[in-house]
Amino acid sequence: MLEKLVRKNVLELHPYSSARDEFMSVAEIYLDANENPNNWEYNRYPDPYQQKLKAAIGEWRKIETKNIFIGNGSDEIIDLIIRAFCEPGIDSIVTLNPSYGMYKVSADINNINFRYFPLDENFNFSPIQLLDFIKPNDKIIFICSPNNPSGNIFDKVNIVTICKKFNGLVIVDEAYIDFAEEAGMLSEIGELDNLIVVQTLSKAMGAAGIRLGMAFMNDYIVKILNKIKHSLQREYCDPKNRIRAR
Ligand SMILES: Cc1ncc(COP(=O)(O)O)c(C=O)c1O
Repeated sequence: MLEKLVRKNVLELHPYSSARDEFMSVAEIYLDANENPNNWEYNRYPDPYQQKLKAAIGEWRKIETKNIFIGNGSDEIIDLIIRAFCEPGIDSIVTLNPSYGMYKVSADINNINFRYFPLDENFNFSPIQLLDFIKPNDKIIFICSPNNPSGNIFDKVNIVTICKKFNGLVIVDEAYIDFAEEAGMLSEIGELDNLIVVQTLSKAMGAAGIRLGMAFMNDYIVKILNKIKHSLQREYCDPKNRIRAR
């Protein structure tokens, strides 16, 4: 099912392949990449798959590293998911209203139609009504839980119902989950292929300056997002740790 959701051009994309991809040894410094030979904290290109960081996050959030994707803040992850899965001018995105405004901005940047599903007077929603609202071209539903700005967390059972009945991706933005009394959706990642949970150190640790967004998802989606991110970054990590996106 997931493969059918990916944009054709992304599915067919060959990630950027540098000379380093073919170099199967370890070098102190890659001079052909113009890395600065004077060793200091920032002279090497970093590991584009952030394996050490993912290992630490995996331990913290109790999830396998293959299910983790890291972004430059969660806003970058939201944008990348839209770019990977939504066809400009054709596909559409649904979000609850009121909710976090960045989903619409990212949709507008990518020329993706955007539809609001109104929350009720208790800032809640009925899964049946939300599913009735869905149209064939809807590719993504954004659910911010706990919701910004209303602060309430949505019923897990309702979110699971949406995931099971919706043929697209359900992105649950858990930026504020560390301040909630109930657990979020992370435990469902292995069960629901179309669920993506997005969190951020900006709120979890009050560390917005680090720009570290974390997303948890089926490993197939991680590979798709890596294909795009890898094409934007050159890979000069330790080759023995390299993971192929193809
Ligand atoms: C609900 C929600 N999601 C995501 C973000 C973006 O966080 P980041 O700093 O990781 O881009 C915010 C920021 O305010 C937010 O309120």
